[in-house]
Amino acid sequence: MERFDTQKSEDLLARAREVIPGGVFGHYGTSVRRPGPKWFSRSDGAYFWDIDDNKYIDYMCAYGPMILGYNHPVVDEAARNQYQAGNTVSVSSPVMVELAELLVETVDAADWALFGKNGGDSTSLAVRIARAATGRTKIVKIQDGYHGVAPWMMASMATEEREIKGITKEDGANLLQIPWNDATAFEQLIAEYPDDIACFISSPYDHPAMRDNTLPEDGYWAKVESLCQKHGILLIVDDVRSGFRIDLAGSNVAYGFSADMVCFGKAIANGYPLSALVGRDSLKKVASEVFYTGSHFFQAAPMAAAKACLVEMKKADAANQMTQFGNKLNDGLVNIASQHGYDLKASGIPAMPYYRLTNVPFDIHSQWIDECVTRGVYLLNYHNHFVSTAHDEDDLNRTFDIVNEAFKALGDSAQHQVA
Ligand SMILES: Cc1ncc(COP(=O)(O)O)c(C=O)c1O
Repeated sequence: MERFDTQKSEDLLARAREVIPGGVFGHYGTSVRRPGPKWFSRSDGAYFWDIDDNKYIDYMCAYGPMILGYNHPVVDEAARNQYQAGNTVSVSSPVMVELAELLVETVDAADWALFGKNGGDSTSLAVRIARAATGRTKIVKIQDGYHGVAPWMMASMATEEREIKGITKEDGANLLQIPWNDATAFEQLIAEYPDDIACFISSPYDHPAMRDNTLPEDGYWAKVESLCQKHGILLIVDDVRSGFRIDLAGSNVAYGFSADMVCFGKAIANGYPLSALVGRDSLKKVASEVFYTGSHFFQAAPMAAAKACLVEMKKADAANQMTQFGNKLNDGLVNIASQHGYDLKASGIPAMPYYRLTNVPFDIHSQWIDECVTRGVYLLNYHNHFVSTAHDEDDLNRTFDIVNEAFKALGDSAQHQVA
């Protein structure tokens, strides 16, 4: 099985570099640093095709937004109808009310909903509402937790060794960070700052880049919840990435705790631009007083898409379907790896697996990913993956064939062992 020819991708990248800083920016910029496709020509179901017309089984799902498959007929029809009726207009559309009602009916923590475009809109709004509600300033987050590109958040990524360009120390002045799964560290912070902590914001489980992902330990969330309640700290769940892939009612429901606010984005509209912040009744008044807006926040078509997407996810029992598929994918990949002498670890939830070859150095792991990508299985070396309800048994079998070829191309594991 030959590696794909991606010459047209490389040629367009050279053109892009002339007019776009970096060629491709942000998280999509990873593609320009590795072999493989840089530009898609079309997408459908679980696949995309690059501009050289190579087909890929997509296990990144646009980094999460695609959950029901690309070009989903029901979601696209809902969006199309709304585009035809009107999208960005001088007043809001009734579909905003219908979507808020559906979220309130579906999501455990939702008594109200506000809408934006990106996940970072929801997380930044949640933090502002928490400050307004408590009259306190400090935000507690998990080390390496990611909540978007707002300055308060990016400041948390700076270390002695790593400068984050365009961010000042002051941007992070009110940030406190603790390790994942460490409720005792949270308790110590509360003792240190008894009257200052407005909120605790965290994804429901730890899904950092470049590291194995970690689920909550037994009792962790119950302890965090009780500390928040005891000390008047608002508990914000960032479900932007994992939302709808664990539990349609919010990932906190699956992990048995209550949240004051839950942030959604990515998959909420199967790729149409929308994010949502939902929250408890007790925060509704203050949420109405925090000024929050954007020129495109009121677009009706993405809201129509989200309504259809929620209905379709419910019908398909999407989270369970993706969990079952993810389990089969993980088991198959681990098994194939071991036949070639490699230890593959799959961590995180089955619907969002993070992969790491544990018995070879990271650059060999990256080479294995490249061998998969350039034969038609789209994976990423440093990030968790995503499955969708469009991935099926045929995709699974084709994936296993390609991954087997990728290991053959990588060669004997013994020559790459970690010392
Ligand atoms: C957990 C989490 N929160 C927030 C965000 C920010 O979302 P967006 O990039 O849509 O602003 C992301 C994006 O990857 C995320 O994974």
